[in-house]
Amino acid sequence: MNVYDSGRIAGILQQLGYTPATSLKDADLVIFNTCHIREKAAEKVFSDLGRLNLIREERLSAGKDTIIGVCGCVVQAEDEQIWKRAPFVDFATGPLTYHRLPEILAKVKRRKGTFVIDTDFPAEDKFDFLPANHSSGGCSFLAIQEGCNNFCTYCVVPYTRGVETSRPVADVLAEARRLVSEGSVEINLLGQNVNSYHGEDAQGHERTLAYLIRQLAEIDGLERIRYTTSYPADMTDDLINCYRDIPKLMPYLHLPIQSGSDKILKAMNRRHTSGDYLRIIDKLLAANPQIGMSSDFIVGFPDETDADFQATLDVVNQVKYIQAFSFKYSPRPGTPAALMPNQVEEKVKKERLEILQNLLFDYQLKFNQQSIGQVMPVLFEHKGRHKGQLIGRTPYMQNLHADISADKLNHIVNIKVTGATTNSLTGIKEGD
Ligand code: 5AD
Ligand code: SF4
Repeated sequence: MNVYDSGRIAGILQQLGYTPATSLKDADLVIFNTCHIREKAAEKVFSDLGRLNLIREERLSAGKDTIIGVCGCVVQAEDEQIWKRAPFVDFATGPLTYHRLPEILAKVKRRKGTFVIDTDFPAEDKFDFLPANHSSGGCSFLAIQEGCNNFCTYCVVPYTRGVETSRPVADVLAEARRLVSEGSVEINLLGQNVNSYHGEDAQGHERTLAYLIRQLAEIDGLERIRYTTSYPADMTDDLINCYRDIPKLMPYLHLPIQSGSDKILKAMNRRHTSGDYLRIIDKLLAANPQIGMSSDFIVGFPDETDADFQATLDVVNQVKYIQAFSFKYSPRPGTPAALMPNQVEEKVKKERLEILQNLLFDYQLKFNQQSIGQVMPVLFEHKGRHKGQLIGRTPYMQNLHADISADKLNHIVNIKVTGATTNSLTGIKEGD
C-alpha cells in the first residue's frame, strides 16, 4: 500500500511541475513515506531523516534550499513529535490527507521555517482529489479499500489508516481500464482488509470483492488479477469460487493467520481459530487444487508459550506455505497488546523467529525446486543486474531471472524453469 501511495504522491508532484531528481543531493523536495507497523520501521524514519539533514545543510551552504516532508502512518501516530524529533522537517501529512499536498506545499513555501502538519481523518475521500493513477509498467497496484475495523490487539492500522472504506465499483473499474489501456497486464487490488470490500455500484448497491473480480476479468488485455491483504473471516464462498471460475485470478493467496494457537488468536482479537483457517484452505483447494498459500506470522505475542508456538509450526507443516512473512511481536504504543502481561523476552522471540523462518524457508525452497522443468507464464517487470537479463514473476509470485530480449519487459512469456533457490528461479524462454 505504501508503494502505491508513493506512486500517487509522485503523481501529485508531477502535476505541480516537479520531475524526479537523479540523487538526494539534487533534490529540492524530499518526501518520506513511512510505516508504523513495527517499531523498527517507525524508528528508521528518524535515522533516515538525520542523514538527510546533513545533505540539507550541505545544500544550504551552497545556497540551495531543500523542502523535507514526511507522509504516512508514522505521521498519523507521532503527530507533532515528528517536528520535536526532527525540527528541520517542513511538513507532515497522514495517509488519508496526502491529496492536500498542493495546499500543504504552498503553505510551506509561504511559511518556510515553520512546521505544517495535517493529520485529519478527512470527510472527503482522497481518491476523488488525486490525479489519475497511471500505469508504471506491466503490473500495477490499485487501491480499492482502505482502513480496518478489525482491531487486532497488536495492530496500529485501525488507528493510523482509520475505519474501513471502499471505493465505488465504477471508480475502480475506470482506473483498471485506464491502467490496462496504458500497458498493465496485471492488477493487484489493494486494501488493508481487501476481501471485506463493499463498494457501491451505480445503483447504490453494495458489491463484494468477488463481484469486482468477475467484472475485472471481463476487461480485454487484463491477464492477471491479484488482491492483498485478506482477512480469514471474510473469505466468502463466492470469493473462494472465483478460484474455480476465473483463470485470470492468480492461484496464489496471501491469507495471514498470525498464530496457530487458538489462545493467542483470541488474545489477538482475531475472529477465527486455526481450525476455521484450515477449513478455508480446504475449500480453496477444492475450488482449485493448484492454489499456493502465503501468510503473515507473529511470534512472541504476549503469553505465547512453547506449546502455542508449536501450534504455529504445526499449521506451517500442514499448509506447506510456498511463501510467508514472519515477524517478532513489536509492542506498539496505544494498542491493547502492548499493555498485556507476560510479554515475551526478546531472546525467546528471536529464537522462535529463527525456528519458524527456517521451517518456512524449507517449504519455500521445496516448492521452488518442484518448479524446475515446468513451463510457467512469467510477467517480466524489471531489468536484471546483468546485461540482457530480465526479472519477472510467475503466477505464484516467485521471482524469476531469465536472459531474454528487453522487448519482453512488461509482457508475459512462457518460460521453462531451469534452476531454483529459496528466493528465486531461473529459466529460459520456451523453445530456446
Ligand atoms: N508486531 C509484529 N508484527 C506486526 N504486524 C502487524 N502489527 C505487528 C506488530 N505489532 C504484522 C502482521 C500483519 C503484517 C502486515 O504485519 O503479521 O499481517
Ligand atoms: Fe491490522 Fe490486519 Fe488486524 Fe486490520 S486485520 S487490525 S490491518 S492485522
